[in-house]
Amino acid sequence: MRVVEKTVDELTRDEARDEVEALTTRILELRDAYYSRDTVLDDDATYDALVRRLEAIEHLFPELQSQDSPTQTVGGRAETTLFAPVEHAERMLSLDNVFSADEFADWAAKVERDAGRPVRLLCELKIDGLALNLRYERGLLVTAATRGDGRVGEDVTQNVLQVAGIPQRLAGDPSELPDLVEVRGEVFIPKVAFDELNALQREAGEREFANPRNAASGSLRQKAEGKNDEQLARMRDRLSRLRMLVHGIGAWPNPPVSAQSEVYGLLERWGLPISTHFRVHDSAAGAAEYIAYHGEHRHDVEHEIDGVVVKVDELALHGELGATSRAPRWAIAYKYPPEQVNTKLLDIVVSVGRTGRATPYAVMQKVRVAGSEVRQATLHNQDVVKAKGVLIGDTIVLRKAGDVIPEVLGPVVELRDGTEREFVMPTNCPECGTALRPAKEGDVDLRCPNARSCPAQVRGRVEHIGSRGGLDIEALGEVSAAALTQPDVPSIPPLQTEAGLFALTIDDLLPIEVVVTDAETGLPKLEADGSARRRTPFRRNPSAAEKKQGLDGPQPSSAALTLLDELEKAKSKPLWRLLVSLNIRHVGPVAARALADWFGSLDAIRAASLDDLSAVDGVGSIIAEAVLDWFTVDWHVEIVDRWAAAGVQFSTPGHAGPGAAAAAGGVLAGLTVVATGSLDGFTREGAQEAIIAAGGKAASSVSKKTDFVAAGPGAGSKLAKAEELGVRIIDAAQFAILVTEGPDALPPAPPAG
Ligand code: IVH
Repeated sequence: MRVVEKTVDELTRDEARDEVEALTTRILELRDAYYSRDTVLDDDATYDALVRRLEAIEHLFPELQSQDSPTQTVGGRAETTLFAPVEHAERMLSLDNVFSADEFADWAAKVERDAGRPVRLLCELKIDGLALNLRYERGLLVTAATRGDGRVGEDVTQNVLQVAGIPQRLAGDPSELPDLVEVRGEVFIPKVAFDELNALQREAGEREFANPRNAASGSLRQKAEGKNDEQLARMRDRLSRLRMLVHGIGAWPNPPVSAQSEVYGLLERWGLPISTHFRVHDSAAGAAEYIAYHGEHRHDVEHEIDGVVVKVDELALHGELGATSRAPRWAIAYKYPPEQVNTKLLDIVVSVGRTGRATPYAVMQKVRVAGSEVRQATLHNQDVVKAKGVLIGDTIVLRKAGDVIPEVLGPVVELRDGTEREFVMPTNCPECGTALRPAKEGDVDLRCPNARSCPAQVRGRVEHIGSRGGLDIEALGEVSAAALTQPDVPSIPPLQTEAGLFALTIDDLLPIEVVVTDAETGLPKLEADGSARRRTPFRRNPSAAEKKQGLDGPQPSSAALTLLDELEKAKSKPLWRLLVSLNIRHVGPVAARALADWFGSLDAIRAASLDDLSAVDGVGSIIAEAVLDWFTVDWHVEIVDRWAAAGVQFSTPGHAGPGAAAAAGGVLAGLTVVATGSLDGFTREGAQEAIIAAGGKAASSVSKKTDFVAAGPGAGSKLAKAEELGVRIIDAAQFAILVTEGPDALPPAPPAG
């Protein structure tokens, strides 16, 4: 589709005609792929945008609107080679969409205006599945058909009979069942069943489904003919995973009900599966709240939803308000921002992390999905790349649900033009050339075994040292870590391993140059002469004043001075932070605190046996072994020695040796305290340190064993839990007393209740 450059009212009539033609072709192409071939050639949001553009042009140039314009017809294709055609007794319409609270308010206002009175609105979830029409005659299911073009659909009765929950016979007194009723709803696959199905596909070496909708549609539209027993069993298994929820009626002469909500009551009594999530609201404001609530909680439901459907509850008004040829005027779909989009897979690149793991990741054309820009997504390992079936150059489906990490779902196979190529997992580390190998036999993940010197691993470890959970050195982030270990600039990097970190001097930093890359493409930015642009993060030209003083050479930048200053301060940071910085496997902040509190010095930890180590509360045998192993490696010991030689303090001042704090019994000995919310006078970490320093246990969750919960503003579920369990809750001022003077100095606890 060509890029839309002009707003609709800037178009000349000729331009508008051309664009109507182009939009129509593209929309029909997308619809055909979606409804008849279970393929998403472009994402929903793009499709919606094309339809809206077409609507806008037709609104301004009504003479250009043809009867069979996609804005006047329902998606889908009637003729099908696979299934017999079924004519619906009453047309199956689609829904108009709105995309914002304002658009919804406009729709609701118009409905009330047209109705001439306030209307009650029934709100329900918009299920991302496929529409199905069930035709019951005197209570018996005669046909089940897909929507098709709205008039004629595909006969999938045989398959539908195997979908759990769809009754073949309606419940209730047969004499009261209508001669004919069409029940409409959505067939879908619950998210859990979808994951299971894809796991089975993977095991069987077959391609995974890109999303639940495709899985549902693909499963419902299988043909039994020509299948062997095993294939038939798989087909039945797939059908048994599908579910249906009904959301309306088609042909039904003289229904004995007067509201949509009553329809649902009757359908339920007939034994049909209705959604439990619908609500009737008296006002548009109530409906807007329902929409907002489910936008926040769209992943809490067992199936995928792509929006909310709001319907006028009173059936008499349905007739009065009527319908266009495409959609009723008494209902509207509020669509949430898309969580699934299509984009181009430009490359698959392998990155090596701090622990040496080599991970392929997708480099994509930047797209916006679920409210954020995405350009990269991990592909985990070569087996996952294979299972997803993606080729470099493919158009791929990318998903990002809420706060979840972006995930490549699979390729749009139909859009391949033959230029795509397969990803081949490199046999050697892309950064240091060492042969990759599994950590242990049978592992899928490959690792670079050159832990000591692989630049990627050193860079990762140095970054980890500077991280919040490590020595918390702000000037030692991703960029500085790369600069200090960068192998691809003429200057030799000052850090070949982290052993030299605390001995860095200004003279080491000044010569460093780094290549500037484009944030968008990841490629080096170029100078006018075509050479790569470089940056000198740690030096600057002298100022005029400095020159006057005779300083005409390069001067350290403020980044360099800050880095050295922060490194100096870090030398006496708490022992647990230094332990985290050593990058010992499994030793994160929690285990490091436990070790530091108990032993008080790195020497004591090093001298401890496996039993000594695993006996510490919060350590255990896996961590204990990792600690022992770590000290058996020469270059690890060299890190400790060189850091110590540079002045790093590997001990807690005043600590009287292993087990001393607990044995000496601080004011909080034997007590467990949880700190939550912001406590005046303490940082989050400071509060924990204060508890530990007083000999108490700083826990992160509230249980019956918790003695005190110190809660400040922003305390959430932990406070609620404490109230529920009757644990004593104290404020910041009382917390300060607790950690200095102990529990006896606190005022008496308020009476319970
Ligand atoms: S009511 C006259 N309710 O969304 C059409 N439709 O994008 C009445 N859909 O064609 C449809 N969940 O297939 C309705 N709770 C729901 C729905 C729902 C999903 C589908 C339906 C419709 C399509 C429109």
